[in-house]
Amino acid sequence: MPSVPPQPALLHEVPIDLGERSYSIAIGTGLLGHADTWRGLPRAAAALVVSNDTVAPLYLAALRRALQPHYGVVHEVVLPDGEAHKDWPTLNRIFDALLAKGCDRKTVLFALGGGVVGDMTGFAAACYMRGVPFVQVPTTLLAQVDSSVGGKTAINHPLGKNMVGAFHQPVRVVCDLDTLATLPAREFSAGLAEIIKYGPIADMAFLDWIEAQLPALLRRDPAALARAVQRSCEIKAWVVGQDEREAGLRAILNFGHTFGHAIEAGLGYGEWLHGEAVGCGMVMAAELSRRLGLVDAALVDRLTRLIAAAGLPVDAPDLGEQRYLELMRVDKKAEAGDLRFVVIESPGRAGVRAAPEALVREVIAQCCKPAHR
Ligand code: NAD
Ligand code: GLY
Repeated sequence: MPSVPPQPALLHEVPIDLGERSYSIAIGTGLLGHADTWRGLPRAAAALVVSNDTVAPLYLAALRRALQPHYGVVHEVVLPDGEAHKDWPTLNRIFDALLAKGCDRKTVLFALGGGVVGDMTGFAAACYMRGVPFVQVPTTLLAQVDSSVGGKTAINHPLGKNMVGAFHQPVRVVCDLDTLATLPAREFSAGLAEIIKYGPIADMAFLDWIEAQLPALLRRDPAALARAVQRSCEIKAWVVGQDEREAGLRAILNFGHTFGHAIEAGLGYGEWLHGEAVGCGMVMAAELSRRLGLVDAALVDRLTRLIAAAGLPVDAPDLGEQRYLELMRVDKKAEAGDLRFVVIESPGRAGVRAAPEALVREVIAQCCKPAHR
């Protein structure tokens, strides 16, 4: 007998305004397993739920039951879990399933999982029959506050992270906070990194709030989580609404990511979680901002303390200065091999700047602790 789904509570709805590609982000509890949540989506004969072998046993049956009243048939494909599988052979398994099941160009894809499943399902939806609709059902904190929103989709290439992908907006994002209950502590902290990010780049009052509410967030208090996801999505929606394809402003969402991507690639994908690398990368980017004369040491200390209190590493792994520089030159912001970084221009405001190599070397030398040598 299937268990009775919890009563749904839609706590917040954040619109993302992109003209004909506009959609809303639903944030609440009990949403995933309730048929009403999935009303009003594009009509189709079939849906395909993409998940992975960790998330599927937890939530796929409930989602499938809730989708069944809306689609003639609900197919599924379960991928191997992990960043190491965010690659061509795994992406191809989604196309194999779509073609083997005779899915047409109206088929709606559902991404049930964290950022890896979301990025791959979105990319598959962008490509299959030159584009089909997809829905994000993010089940990690990081995916709820960042990766499920804004339409960036990608897989990794051995020479660089997220280097092959497309912009393809979902038709809806549904953040069911109940799913966060099963998230391991390390993954939860990784999500906090992306929440903290929104403070120094866009909203210092939000940074004050995160500092005050960190104990509640770490206890996974539902009200605190709902507010954190809502404010993060509002800020991301505000940025993406102005610069969907990253002609300029959207790059600020990559605060900490240039150093962070170097850490992830340098250690080997999966050694540090993406959010962990971003947390440490934010310490490095804040220190670079200080050395460029943009912010004072008090702000760098404040951010470093908060990132550490969120359970994230703040000492960078010692890959060697040269290796950091090589890895950062494949960053998408690099121009003609010159290093460019998102920096804090002033508290609550960010921008992209080229930085002298000597200054970047100083930051690396300061942030890499001997313990990692
Ligand atoms: P992830 O997708 O690997 O999920 C983390 C782990 O948690 C996985 O093992 C997953 O199976 C497991 N998991 C997911 N939900 C769970 C749940 N409810 N209970 C228990 N376990 C659960 O990692 P992530 O941190 O969600 O996402 C990182 C990825 O997102 C990276 O590939 C990164 O490049 C990408 N990303 C994309 C964007 C974007 O704008 N598209 C933004 C930020 C990050
Ligand atoms: N996570 C960065 C972006 O969506 O642009």
